Amino acid sequence: MITKEDNELLCRVTGDAPMGRMLRQHYWLPAVLSVRVRKGEAPVKVKLFGRKFIAFRGKDGSVGFLDEACPHRGASLALGRVDDCSVTCLFHGWRISTSGEVLDVPNEPNNPKEFAKTIKVKSYPTCEGAGLVWVWIGEGTAPPPPDFEWMNLPPDQAYAAGIELKANWLQGVEATIDSSHVALLHQSWTANSATDFAATRQNTAVSYQFDKKDYGFRAAALRATPDGACLARVTEFIMPYYGLIAPIYSGAQQDRTAIIAVPIDDENLIQWYIFYNSEKPTDSWRRIQRCNQWPMAGGLPGDETNNWGQNRQIMDAGNSTGFHEIVIEDFVVMVSMGPIVDRSAEYLCSADQAIVRVRRQLLDEVRGFINGKTPKSAQSETMSYKDIRAVGGRLPSMSDDWRQIPR
Ligand code: FES
Ligand SMILES: [Fe+2]
Repeated sequence: MITKEDNELLCRVTGDAPMGRMLRQHYWLPAVLSVRVRKGEAPVKVKLFGRKFIAFRGKDGSVGFLDEACPHRGASLALGRVDDCSVTCLFHGWRISTSGEVLDVPNEPNNPKEFAKTIKVKSYPTCEGAGLVWVWIGEGTAPPPPDFEWMNLPPDQAYAAGIELKANWLQGVEATIDSSHVALLHQSWTANSATDFAATRQNTAVSYQFDKKDYGFRAAALRATPDGACLARVTEFIMPYYGLIAPIYSGAQQDRTAIIAVPIDDENLIQWYIFYNSEKPTDSWRRIQRCNQWPMAGGLPGDETNNWGQNRQIMDAGNSTGFHEIVIEDFVVMVSMGPIVDRSAEYLCSADQAIVRVRRQLLDEVRGFINGKTPKSAQSETMSYKDIRAVGGRLPSMSDDWRQIPR
């Protein structure tokens, strides 16, 4: 049972809210698509945890990530001019490098070089992987960036896309790890295919088993099939906001999907999808190139005033939800709960066990953090993610161990 107070502790991430401080201090964030941060071009505005930043790329290729407000008197550095390795504020010409040093203070008459050294610029470490610029916005020394298998793949093997949604970050996390909706919300997409994903329709009731891990947990959604076998789909929850979901076909060489729910502020998130294949170019990549636009790129087809563009005519013709795309189904239900869902008013069932686990782990770790402890799942020199993979497959019976499915 989540109280209103616990719900606030889980959801609030701006200002001094403990959850926000814990997330910023101990975990890296995917911030912006690398292709949007172009050499020598206009800085890109990025909002995370209610704070405003800019990302820019000097003509030398280096990436800078700074507070949007100029350290002098707060003019927006998004207006600035970008050159080899720095951005210059329009107002009084202060020039700041991609690594956060002040290079020029042209309006200071007294020893400007010495004065420049005394200025503290809010600049943040970045790295790039899976087509994204990642950033760490904590205080002090950054932990190493996460070493997920997608971080070092060539561009045609790892592709990222994101959508901003009016919902708290935890709604994004919960949507990702909730396997029990697949056979119900997405029933139009499971009706006509022979994938493992589609086979979920054979049994809409899910039983769960879990394995606790340092990084979070493995959640096996198990379904008895009519022939007496077991269909297993194993989701990986990685603290604090990663969900790795099982491929739609089981077996090696499949495209895989990671979903990351990143807070923009208390009532908005950006849901990042990373499609990757460690063996060969992703089909998702080819699909995106063909369409030149993923459905997410345009955002949702409406808002609450028109039920987010739900089309009752296609429902009358057999579509189960009235939405044209599977991911839109996910986004609409998430946003329809309101920006911060009241978890004290829910009526959970046993198919919600993965959701309960996520909340419990986040609450345990944030309470520890308030008492001065480092979360067990914090990114660190010793925390490796490179072997974590979501898997799925069929087992001969419900009593067989899902842990035998190779990762
Ligand atoms: S406000 Fe940026 S240089 Fe003065
Ligand atoms: Fe879904």
